[in-house]
Amino acid sequence: MSNDFTLRYGSWAMVAGASEGLGAAFAEALAKRGLNLILLARRMEKLEDLASSLKVKYNIEIRFFSVDLHDFNQTKTLVSSLDVSIGLLVYNAAYAPIAYFSDINESQLTQIVDVNVKTPLLLVKLVSEEMIRSGKGGILLMSSLTGTQGSPKVATYAATKAFNAILAEGIWKELKPKGIDVIASCAGAIMTPGYANAQNGKAPGTLSPEKVAEISLKALGRGPIVIPGTINKLAHFFMGRLLSRKTAINIMELNTKNLS
Ligand SMILES: NC(=O)c1ccc[n+]([C@@H]2O[C@H](COP(=O)([O-])OP(=O)(O)OC[C@H]3O[C@@H](n4cnc5c(N)ncnc54)[C@H](OP(=O)(O)O)[C@@H]3O)[C@@H](O)[C@H]2O)c1
Repeated sequence: MSNDFTLRYGSWAMVAGASEGLGAAFAEALAKRGLNLILLARRMEKLEDLASSLKVKYNIEIRFFSVDLHDFNQTKTLVSSLDVSIGLLVYNAAYAPIAYFSDINESQLTQIVDVNVKTPLLLVKLVSEEMIRSGKGGILLMSSLTGTQGSPKVATYAATKAFNAILAEGIWKELKPKGIDVIASCAGAIMTPGYANAQNGKAPGTLSPEKVAEISLKALGRGPIVIPGTINKLAHFFMGRLLSRKTAINIMELNTKNLS
């Protein structure tokens, strides 16, 4: 397994939003495949703990940096200063405040768009330039089933997740002939610390971060979209293909109205 990934993507992967939950699970799944890691998030202590444990377990090189992905210039300066080529990018970070649109302020809206749209878009542009030159690379963007239809109480977040999925589909086609695999992972509920804070109980089809990371990485190279989990695949089919938009939004609201 390790040979396959390093051959396809080179020896360095970057996980943006790696300090806990799904990002940490991606970091471990990539470490297991023998890739060296560049880990980004705001909380340095969490990154440090994760890096120490993965270094010991997998004998790989890890660099970690505290960066606020809300600020693309900070991210760009950091990425441009690296002396290694990023062969695989996993953009996992997201900002998802839970509130009705009337209660959300301009600064929060700007931050949602910066963390979930602007930075992944410009980071993909930045790292794909070197991937195109070297004729190989991988890009994985985290999307969500909330992005399949309008999702009350997380409306802007959901719209940004739709952006990531549609972006991945377009550049999957464009970059494939250049040797670059692109995928968006449209996950249902994942038992991350962020999800556990927002939800009482477990939605149907909830998966562990480890499972989502593993399924998503295995699907890289196989198509533009992966939906981890059978229940989530079925939900996506019903919500996206069979039901009217109105019904799909109403069903989504039954779940999202309980978020807090
Ligand atoms: N959890 C779910 O049920 C679910 C379902 C579908 C899709 N997803 C997607 O899966 C991904 C991960 O979800 P999650 O629940 O694990 O999220 P999370 O618990 O909020 O964690 C996200 C990671 O991103 C980092 N991060 C967030 N904002 C950042 C910023 N401004 N700058 C740098 N790092 C930042 C966090 O680290 P720091 O706080 O240390 O910066 C953390 O490591 C997201 O893209 C989300 O949309 C999640």
